[in-house]
Amino acid sequence: MTIDIAIVPVAGVGTRLLPSTKSQPKEMLPVGRKPVVQYVVEELALSGIKRLLFITGTGKQSIEDHFDTDAELTRFLRKTGREEQLAELEFEHKDLEYFYTRQREQLGLGHAVLCARPLVGKEPVVVALGDSIIGIHAKSNIVARMVDEFERTSADVVVAFEEVSREDVVHYGIAKPKGAAGEIFKLEDLIEKPAVHEAPSNLAVAARYVFSPEIFKHLEQTTPGKGGEIQLTDAIRSMLAQGARGVGMRLAPSERRFDIGNFESYFRAFAEFAINDPIYGSNFRAHIKTLLEEQS
Ligand code: G1P
Repeated sequence: MTIDIAIVPVAGVGTRLLPSTKSQPKEMLPVGRKPVVQYVVEELALSGIKRLLFITGTGKQSIEDHFDTDAELTRFLRKTGREEQLAELEFEHKDLEYFYTRQREQLGLGHAVLCARPLVGKEPVVVALGDSIIGIHAKSNIVARMVDEFERTSADVVVAFEEVSREDVVHYGIAKPKGAAGEIFKLEDLIEKPAVHEAPSNLAVAARYVFSPEIFKHLEQTTPGKGGEIQLTDAIRSMLAQGARGVGMRLAPSERRFDIGNFESYFRAFAEFAINDPIYGSNFRAHIKTLLEEQS
């Protein structure tokens, strides 16, 4: 795989998670033992990404702090013989480079991605939304598979999709596949958060994308759409309308998407990660079982 850079937008305000997100980014909420954004980085590293370009914004400083090496904390843990806790900081030393730029105005996801243009405007890139984890404990190589497909088919855009229930199409970008949608399919069009009766399928954009640099030209010309925001979906549409080759790839059944953008899916993600935790999982599972029995 030749693409080694991912844009990770983390500038969204997280209003659906208030008050938890009043003074901390939603991407720093813990799911089990790690903050969401650490899973995103670990997943990308697993797929061969080496450079991470975060699009941050007001109040997102702690994301940058999280990926810094903390020499003082390391010294303290070493001095006090806390080797196990020290091992929890190993992610700081991954062979990755971090870059940060800020979206200075909240103009939407498309605009956030456009903020990366001066830095990566000439090369193909991955975009991975910082509030979505793919696969339990982020054990997914979906991005590597998408990049392979992007290269093999000389595509201009590859988007990951997940089936959602008919009522849920209103929350996502929805695919219009060309013909029957197998595991990999031709993407004819994409609609941002359609009404149920307007949705061309129930395949929802699952927070991972691969783009040729053409995307930036289209983003620049994209005017505010759904919710008054500059939508990434609309820029993809514009590419497809001009004959770009679009490919959709379904997540495998084992790599469901955990969306941390609202409480319902956040609770579900936390519970599932916690009951599957290699250390605390079995006790926690037993505790939940008892709780449920007591309440039934
Ligand atoms: C964004 C995208 C949408 C996508 C979703 C989840 O929406 O605009 O197309 O389906 O992320 O990946 P948001 O959750 O920011 O409203």
